Amino acid sequence: MANEIYWGATLERGNPFRSPRAIGEFHAGELGFGHVVLAVDDYESSLRFYRDGLGLLISDYIELDMGAAGKTTVAFLHSGPRHYSLAIAQFPAPKRLHHFMLQVRDIDDVGSTYDLCQDLRVPIASSLGRHTNDLTTSFYMVSPSGFQVEYGHGGREIDDDDWEVRTHHAASVWGHRSAPAMPVVAATHPAD
Ligand SMILES: [Fe+2]
Repeated sequence: MANEIYWGATLERGNPFRSPRAIGEFHAGELGFGHVVLAVDDYESSLRFYRDGLGLLISDYIELDMGAAGKTTVAFLHSGPRHYSLAIAQFPAPKRLHHFMLQVRDIDDVGSTYDLCQDLRVPIASSLGRHTNDLTTSFYMVSPSGFQVEYGHGGREIDDDDWEVRTHHAASVWGHRSAPAMPVVAATHPAD
């Protein structure tokens, strides 16, 4: 998988993004846009590449029981205050990009977007829930390309001076129920 590293993107500070919907700002800026979670073929060599090669720091781990698919460990990595910008794991996924996450400043924007996705019949992969490690309250929708988009609020920020790496044994404190439990039907495009 190719990684692009860049510096000096043009910022339109005087003309920030304004959604046509009545929602507030994304929580990005110096924290970066959010995070990505990659499904990798080789967990150990990927960890060496991102941690030992590129110098990202381990935030924590989650050990996941995937039922019939066995167990896997997800490693979460950061390069600044955002709890994590990258996570990697060996798990079955339709794309190498499992999902990316966008963070909004207002929990109501998560709720109204959750409603909108259901109104537009956007497939929901995971219901509203809260993660154990980064504490984000979020839900996951399925993009037309097959990867997921997580839309959330309240992701924690950390300080390396007092951060302790630990291993969690569940991804969520509550919620994030998988699709079969959701009253959302198959993908169709909004009425057009
Ligand atoms: Fe995520």
